[in-house]
Amino acid sequence: MAEQLTITSTGKEGKYKELLPQLEALVGGEADLIANLANISAALREAMGFFWVGFYLVKGNELVLGPFQGPIACTRIQMGKGVCGTVWKEKKARIVPDVNGFPGHIACSTGSRSEIVLPAFKNNEVLLVLDVDSDKVNDFDEIDALYLGQLMKVIERL
Ligand code: SME
Repeated sequence: MAEQLTITSTGKEGKYKELLPQLEALVGGEADLIANLANISAALREAMGFFWVGFYLVKGNELVLGPFQGPIACTRIQMGKGVCGTVWKEKKARIVPDVNGFPGHIACSTGSRSEIVLPAFKNNEVLLVLDVDSDKVNDFDEIDALYLGQLMKVIERL
């Protein structure tokens, strides 16, 4: 397992392209899901500089906060509530360019202005969601959706 990340690109897409193989190597030798999610959230924060990045895991009829990096966050989210609960219900990733324009957005931190949330599946059911928040509006686009989507595939293979 690599002891540290090496990212030389300055652009977003370049960073993702360098980061993804390093993330695969990071989690490839470890079987424990929580340990892997913890390292993935730390690596994403370190490499991409995200304001908040972390996981909510499906536990029974709610999402429960898992490994994350950033300010403290809400611990439980109901199905269909907020962006995370909507992504869980609809089984489809979402980009929210301005959280103030998303009805029912859950403001864990007042600093969060835009976000992207993606689901990972196990046996066709949502296992967890990845939530990434920015302190700027309009900070996520199709590049984030593409590469974070690839990361979700890596997580699904764990
Ligand atoms: N804003 C999210 C809740 C999680 S936090 O932002 C970390 C939502 O609406 O689902």
